[in-house]
Amino acid sequence: MIQWQAHPTTEALTGEVRVPSDKSITHRALMLGGLAHGTTKIYEPLLGADAISTLRAMEAFGARSETTNELISIEGAHKLNSPSQPIDCGNAGTLIRLLAGAICGRDVACVLDGDKSLRSRPMRRITEPLTQMGAQIFASEEGTPPLRIEPVTRLRQIKYTLTQASAQVKSAVLLAGLCADEGAAVIEKLPTRNHTELMLPSFGVDVEIQGNQIKVAPGELQAATVHVPADISSAAFYMVAASVIPESDVLLRDVGINPTRAGVIKILDKMGAKLEIHNERMLGNEPIADIRVTSSALHGINLHAKDVPSAIDELPVIFVAACYANGIFRIRGAGELRAKESDRLSAMGDALQKLGIQAVEYDDGIDIIGDSLVQGGTVNSCGDHRIAMAMAVAALKAKEPIVIEDCANVGTSFPYFRQLAETIGWNITENDAN
Ligand code: S3P
Repeated sequence: MIQWQAHPTTEALTGEVRVPSDKSITHRALMLGGLAHGTTKIYEPLLGADAISTLRAMEAFGARSETTNELISIEGAHKLNSPSQPIDCGNAGTLIRLLAGAICGRDVACVLDGDKSLRSRPMRRITEPLTQMGAQIFASEEGTPPLRIEPVTRLRQIKYTLTQASAQVKSAVLLAGLCADEGAAVIEKLPTRNHTELMLPSFGVDVEIQGNQIKVAPGELQAATVHVPADISSAAFYMVAASVIPESDVLLRDVGINPTRAGVIKILDKMGAKLEIHNERMLGNEPIADIRVTSSALHGINLHAKDVPSAIDELPVIFVAACYANGIFRIRGAGELRAKESDRLSAMGDALQKLGIQAVEYDDGIDIIGDSLVQGGTVNSCGDHRIAMAMAVAALKAKEPIVIEDCANVGTSFPYFRQLAETIGWNITENDAN
């Protein structure tokens, strides 16, 4: 088992970094490219384990690819193969949910499976709307993977109102809509990340957005060129690290600042962080910027359901910011955190309590008493990449080093996390505890 020892620092964190590329955008580009006519070029893709699982999945259906550090070229499969072996979606919820939607109307039989964490994640949220569309898709009795898909050549149109604020469910239905008689429309009560609807037009699909309704027309995908920005979810660890360590000054380059993802900037700003947004520009269909973070005194705030979707993956590290902030931090309406790679409310609650922080867990949230003295000790990441990295941030200002167990999955979203951290003076060592 890979274990980290994350060390406190007495020095400021300084430097310039470009964190790895966006996981959500890379998954989508690989999936659409893998289904499109022609060769899609994806520049600066994330080469983390989750994205590689998507690439391998598309190859199992017949796509062909060539990868260098900077570029993946993927030639789409016109008529999909029905793979004889189950597709291993690894740790990736985005892969299994979006792929299920994308292929369930394309005349293929397959089984989509994954690791222990993925096998515990809820799938009824996608099997219900996809079944309404006429897909033959079956989860386990508990509503979890593996998912079995039987061949269907055409789907029925749907107008579907999301019951959770989930971009994965929205995207699964929209991608299935490409094979449906009249397409698909999804209505969302709270805006979720919109990378699918932003990317589809580059692949030749008609997308219509009216208020909170997103509608796609059926049709074939045509190859496109996609440039992937740095992942704001990975940048968030640096934002909090530089905010809490005195005298720090870190520049985060080329970060995606799509408003449906940029909740962490708003939230940290409300907590008193100093984040300067420079050089705002477009990279393809996505807005990006360079973000300068300097240290500041933070304070606790109250967050509600409406604040959650645009910061869903950054909440674990925002909880760490709360430990070093003045006053109480309170969040409610965040029950979805329990359905991630781990139950993130419980994983964070347990880890923070182990470090001597007063954190009180609720069904749909947590209260964190700030300005606590963070002790060292051993915490378990529960195999969740974002919990592991959040704990490495917690260690920076702790009294003693923090040992973080079960860190292998950091590579799903942030390859070379420790090596990049080292460049700004953040020291994390690794050992294999087996
Ligand atoms: C994602 C959507 C979110 C997010 C996940 C990536 C996506 O999940 O937490 O890391 O790429 O669509 P939900 O749709 O379950 O909220």
